[in-house]
Amino acid sequence: MSGRLQGKIAIVTGAGGGIGRAICLAFADEGAALVCNDINRETVGETAAQVAARGGRAAVVVGDLALEQTSRDLAAAARAEFGGLTTVVNSAVRDASYLKVTELPLVEWRESIDVNLTGPFLLLKHSIPLMIEGGGGSIVLIASQLARTPKPGRAWYSSQKGALISLAKALAVDHAAQNVRANTLSPGPTADQRFFSQWPSEAEAHKHAATLFGRLATPAEIAAAAVFLASDESSFMTGADLLIDGGYTVV
Ligand SMILES: NC(=O)c1ccc[n+]([C@@H]2O[C@H](COP(=O)([O-])OP(=O)(O)OC[C@H]3O[C@@H](n4cnc5c(N)ncnc54)[C@H](O)[C@@H]3O)[C@@H](O)[C@H]2O)c1
Repeated sequence: MSGRLQGKIAIVTGAGGGIGRAICLAFADEGAALVCNDINRETVGETAAQVAARGGRAAVVVGDLALEQTSRDLAAAARAEFGGLTTVVNSAVRDASYLKVTELPLVEWRESIDVNLTGPFLLLKHSIPLMIEGGGGSIVLIASQLARTPKPGRAWYSSQKGALISLAKALAVDHAAQNVRANTLSPGPTADQRFFSQWPSEAEAHKHAATLFGRLATPAEIAAAAVFLASDESSFMTGADLLIDGGYTVV
């Protein structure tokens, strides 16, 4: 196989989810080896099975990203299974209730930030040394268009995604000398179970897409941008936020 990610070894968190799975499949199609993580054993197993069915290579680490051991296990699996690490994609997300800060229980704030911000911190703490050992690599943190354009009741989400954008910029500064690039990818509304679950039907969900195209993104459209950020085609890109939102934030 001679793909755009030939020779790359990637950790992908949230790999059982809509966007995470699409990223795993696109990466495998482009030649990357994968270490797939999710807290959901069944869905991440299905992702790995789909990767294998396409002729790709995927190891699985089931675990909660909020726990440091999960990140230790992910780095160890990349080393043991594939001999190193070039790429980290953080796609996992833990949702809280859609409530204003005046109403959101502290426990939900803490549980979401533990996965959505402390999770990537732990992941990078254990991954970056391995990337540096191999000569560098690319970090892709999945943020959101809602970091730029908040929606009612999502202060916890916009602030945590905004923090990821700042985190990537800070990582870019700290690790450029070691040839580690760090960017965020901000999807707009994307057609998967997580988005559909907010509406009574898929047709209703598309109606509320609020993009200039009047439709949701497909997970594959988001994955295509992740392939670009993971590949050497984006070699001069670091500290950037790549917005793939169908014009959601324009109006
Ligand atoms: N779908 C959209 O419309 C949309 C829009 C903008 C941004 N995003 C972002 O894209 C990313 C992927 O979203 P998605 O739509 O694929 O969501 P999803 O719910 O389908 O996938 C998220 C995955 O994260 C996993 N997860 C949850 N808690 C975890 C934990 N503690 N440890 C490990 N894994 C855990 C879930 O099991 C799930 O498989 C998220 O970061 C999300 O915020 C999504």
